[in-house]
Amino acid sequence: MTTVLDVQRFKDEHRRFAVVTAYDYLSAKILDEAGIPILLVGDSLGMVMLGYPTTLQVTLDEMIHHSKAVARGSRQALLVGDLPFMSYHTSVEQAIASAGRFLQEGGMHAVKLEGGGRHMVEITRRLTELGIPVMGHLGLTPQSVHQMGGFKVQGKSQAQAARILADAKELEEAGAFSVVLEGVPSELGTRITQALHIPTIGIGAGAGTDGQVLVYHDLLGLTSGKAPKFVKRYANLAEEIGNAVQRFARDVASGEFPGTEHTYSANGAAPAVSAAAPASAGDRDEVKYGAG
Ligand code: KIV
Repeated sequence: MTTVLDVQRFKDEHRRFAVVTAYDYLSAKILDEAGIPILLVGDSLGMVMLGYPTTLQVTLDEMIHHSKAVARGSRQALLVGDLPFMSYHTSVEQAIASAGRFLQEGGMHAVKLEGGGRHMVEITRRLTELGIPVMGHLGLTPQSVHQMGGFKVQGKSQAQAARILADAKELEEAGAFSVVLEGVPSELGTRITQALHIPTIGIGAGAGTDGQVLVYHDLLGLTSGKAPKFVKRYANLAEEIGNAVQRFARDVASGEFPGTEHTYSANGAAPAVSAAAPASAGDRDEVKYGAG
């Protein structure tokens, strides 16, 4: 299983690594079996899975619910739960309780929190002391969307860049095992990566970070509309799914589906199976969802 020590080793050995968000059992299983070393149950699930307008609406209970599913689907990956808005803001005690729920109930191995400054540094220090690994998140921090005046690239001015670099160093010093850098100029992504001993994980932070993270649905083309600049689509699954379900609906309307190979017979005789999917009568007689 991937641990935070492995993640540090990736940096020390100059091995770049991929991180992908996961929000449910099946996506976690696919990603885990594909060898993705870190799965992030990001609060982006509020927007991607639950249809909220921003990440601010997703609750800790919702995050834990999805974390449990991801934990059931994963065997090898390091699992990181994203502390949602207002689950760590009011006090260090609240942050400890929320992070504890992620590990105890959600099956996560680490937590992520957004922002720098005194409070976040203190939380990072305390959680680390308590044995809960912390991933920081700086630059464009979506939970502060209203403070930032929108989802805007951060760190463009020298003063802002210096602040983000200082925050990253403070989080490292407080014990964070890695830091996500989101929506910052690539020069700053590279500069912070070179200044830190812990790995950086970029999303819209250029090619100079140690790791790269993308949202599962974005990289697979499951989300519609124009993708942001930092997204590379590796598939166009929304279109494929749309075409597949239309074919299904057409087959139902025309009576083409179900054919004999998808039909049980009353006398228990082995159903005819297609050459493309040979199976024993026993396998095919099992009535089960999501087989495999
Ligand atoms: O919520 C999320 O998915 C994230 C990543 C995109 C870094 O924070």
